[in-house]
Amino acid sequence: MPSDTNATIEANPSAASSSSAASGAKVLVAPPAATARGDGPCGPAGDCAAPPCSLVIFGAGGDLTKRLLVPALYNLVVDGLLDNGLQVIGVNRGERGTDSWRDDLHTSLQQFAAERSSAGKADEKSWNWLAQRMHYIGGDFASADTFERVKQQIASNKAGCGNAIFYLAVGERFFKPVVEQLGKAGLLDENAAGGFRRVVIEKPFGNDLASARDLNAHILTYANEQQIYRIDHFLGKETVQSILAVRFANALFEPVWRREYIDSVQITASETLGVEGRGAFYDNTGAFRDMLPNHLFQLLAMVAMEPPTSFDAETVRDKKAEVSAAIQPLRAEDVVLGQYAQGPAGVAYRTEPNVAPDSTTETYAAACVHLDNWRWAGVPFYLRTGKRLATRRTEIAVQLKRVPFLMFRDTPVDSLTPNVLTLRIDPAHGTRFDFNVKVPGPTMKMGRVRSTFDYKDFFKEEANVGYETLLYDCMRGDETLFQRADSIEASWAAVDGVLHPKDGALPVHDYAAGGSGPAEADALLARTGHAWRPLDDEPKRS
Ligand code: BG6
Repeated sequence: MPSDTNATIEANPSAASSSSAASGAKVLVAPPAATARGDGPCGPAGDCAAPPCSLVIFGAGGDLTKRLLVPALYNLVVDGLLDNGLQVIGVNRGERGTDSWRDDLHTSLQQFAAERSSAGKADEKSWNWLAQRMHYIGGDFASADTFERVKQQIASNKAGCGNAIFYLAVGERFFKPVVEQLGKAGLLDENAAGGFRRVVIEKPFGNDLASARDLNAHILTYANEQQIYRIDHFLGKETVQSILAVRFANALFEPVWRREYIDSVQITASETLGVEGRGAFYDNTGAFRDMLPNHLFQLLAMVAMEPPTSFDAETVRDKKAEVSAAIQPLRAEDVVLGQYAQGPAGVAYRTEPNVAPDSTTETYAAACVHLDNWRWAGVPFYLRTGKRLATRRTEIAVQLKRVPFLMFRDTPVDSLTPNVLTLRIDPAHGTRFDFNVKVPGPTMKMGRVRSTFDYKDFFKEEANVGYETLLYDCMRGDETLFQRADSIEASWAAVDGVLHPKDGALPVHDYAAGGSGPAEADALLARTGHAWRPLDDEPKRS
């Protein structure tokens, strides 16, 4: 809370499960839209179920499959959104039986359910429905034989209608060889298959402009753009998808959502975790590449895009692509990098496992971004992300311009703080609006107050790993939440000058583990009379 806060207005909290107007000021919560869901695991699929298909996961033994993909599939089963004609084929190096693979996944799922589902355990009927559709293939990703076996397994799924999705849950070095083998095996040929053939590619999609272009060119020799689903998992977050709803389903925001009224925007993705056993990957990547041109630019696009005329995938993606294209190429002076040193929250980055003891890799990055278009010219977008910071917080804070002070000149009010609308992505889910009111009493005193909307106060929160919508949309052929080649390349183009600086590497400044980032990042904003929003202005959530 800001220090001048002396009142708090909570926006109408109600019981978590309430779908009616809450107490206090009336806020109507629409009842859940009638969904024609399937009859659940053992019954026929409903109108909303995804079409039948074979989902082929390369990297079936990896962390992503265990922690996110299989729990997401399980959640889709529970919701009755998968078709009886689903088959899940896991491909990984190393022979093992299907049973052993399934058992491993079952154990992880139970762990996930114990931690995150209200029931505390996985529903066995739903798991069995999924498990009996799972098959394991052990084989090398570069060997034609592996892909021949995949082809046969897909063909064995008669109810799959020839549809297949190839999910590349593998390290980036395998992206090209796997797509190449898929192409050479004829697995991406939709005419021959008689069904859809889609390829899902995880982040990182390249590590600079040249590599992203090269990767795009390579995969587009084997598949067309409509077959490629490039994932940025931030777009799977409900709160990110809701940005468009908040902006475009309310008359209040859009008229002021422009340079005439908005002073600046801060996009923060701060983490308390360190590199958590990913030292080898992270030391070669760094915070900037890991987060900025992908996750943070996605948030930037959602907050800055022009209103699309429909939710049609190409219409939405065209508007987002316009934002990526409008980003002014970053210069070295627009960026501050940092690395955590020993501090209250732990040891220095350089002492983490698999990190070079003299590493100069950044674990923090901040940037000042400008968009060169009519809506946003002159409005700074400040982006920051880092590991081992004071709090975990992903949010977008939109600060409005100050109002004229004239009428308060002869009152005890000495200043007016600007309005700030905060779109809270994680771990808090919702919005917050900071504004000014009169403090009760005979004289005119100003109090800064805060109106908070929290999803859990109005909607039942589902155990959700963030991949459910992405998988479901991919099965249904909805590309809205996936990234197009042009947007990816435009994002890398905007940061290329910083990744390959002509005047030598950018300095990396120390910050204390558990702090709020390097002091130099404060100076980046001070240049324009701004300051970062404090990372710890409210009690921590568990
Ligand atoms: C990943 C990055 O893409 O996103 C990680 O590689 C980062 O370093 C993670 O921790 C953050 O995602 P989330 O959903 O936990 O905020």
